[in-house]
Amino acid sequence: MIPPFALERYFARHEFTARYLLSASDCETLSQAELLDMADPKTRGMWDALRLGYTESQGHPLLRQEIANLYKTVWPDDVLVVTPEEGIFIAMHALLQKGDHVIVMSPAYQSLFQIAVSLGAEVSRWSLETDGVRWKLDLSALQKLYRPVTKLLVINVPHNPTGFHIDAGTQKQILAFAREKRIAVFSDEMYRFSEYSADACLPGACDLYDQAITLGGLSKSFGLPGLRLGWLACKEREIIRRFQILKDYTTICHSAPSEILAVIALRARDRILDRTRKIVADNLDIADRFFAGHHRFFEWIRPMAGPVAFPRLKGTDVIERFCEKLFASRSVLLAPRTVFNVADNHFRIGLGRKTFADGLETLGEFLMAEYP
Ligand SMILES: Cc1ncc(COP(=O)(O)O)c(C=O)c1O
Repeated sequence: MIPPFALERYFARHEFTARYLLSASDCETLSQAELLDMADPKTRGMWDALRLGYTESQGHPLLRQEIANLYKTVWPDDVLVVTPEEGIFIAMHALLQKGDHVIVMSPAYQSLFQIAVSLGAEVSRWSLETDGVRWKLDLSALQKLYRPVTKLLVINVPHNPTGFHIDAGTQKQILAFAREKRIAVFSDEMYRFSEYSADACLPGACDLYDQAITLGGLSKSFGLPGLRLGWLACKEREIIRRFQILKDYTTICHSAPSEILAVIALRARDRILDRTRKIVADNLDIADRFFAGHHRFFEWIRPMAGPVAFPRLKGTDVIERFCEKLFASRSVLLAPRTVFNVADNHFRIGLGRKTFADGLETLGEFLMAEYP
């Protein structure tokens, strides 16, 4: 049986009781009323007339059109609407079998490697390294990890949990390597659109390589995780067809209200994403100041993009115990290294929530009281 998803189980225990969710990866959520206020006459009409029947299995055509608009060369038929986590499950099951070799950027959101392992594939970790100032990825290590049986390369940028990001040149190099070796790429782009500057937003990998599958969704930068809405996009129609076959065994089709709300969100994306970027930028400033003032306790490895960062607790304590004490005494939730399968004393913080400053201040009070 597949092992439990450590991060999800950890959040299931604490997420809905914590006062300050200081490690959330999603950005400040929108209310349904706020989102509906952004509807144009056509989508408002669709919402008012919505019937709660089954929906088209591949996804509403208008929704797939709006998703295709996020890319340069993708057509609505190159898109399959899924729940993001379901997209990982479907893609891994469609692409992998026992004996295959997979290279996964690491640390990673657990399902990005765990499902491959559960299918009998062998996983090699392409590890991000830190010098205490920034995260780095060694391209030459990718060459060394490659084997003739390598079937899939899994990347995730902007990266969860480190906030690591690559530039367009590096993205091209990685995809050129995959093309040369004829391996497929699963590109988890769930944090796309929460970069700190417009030029840091990369093209979807699906635009650049026909064997690249992009996973996108509305859970993170759009602040709409409750819609449970994402997509797989790939220009190789045969791959999308194989995903579609598996979807008939998972959810069959998507939720009718979520599809219409997703169309509204994608049409209003400039407004929604401006709001997200402003919250993340403000919180990043607050984090910079906090960690500068608390360098005795922490190594602040500044994120390069996205709403999460992965600093390190110095000698103070073991991070799991530190997180437990913090939660028990102040109801502030941080996610320790163990839920990311990392050895060093790192923990994840989330920069997307409006309560971030208050949560950090409470963390500061805890430090003063416990480690004067
Ligand atoms: C990198 C990454 N991929 C996929 C997902 C899954 O998204 P969702 O929870 O909306 O299904 C997450 C969620 O945290 C994630 O961080």
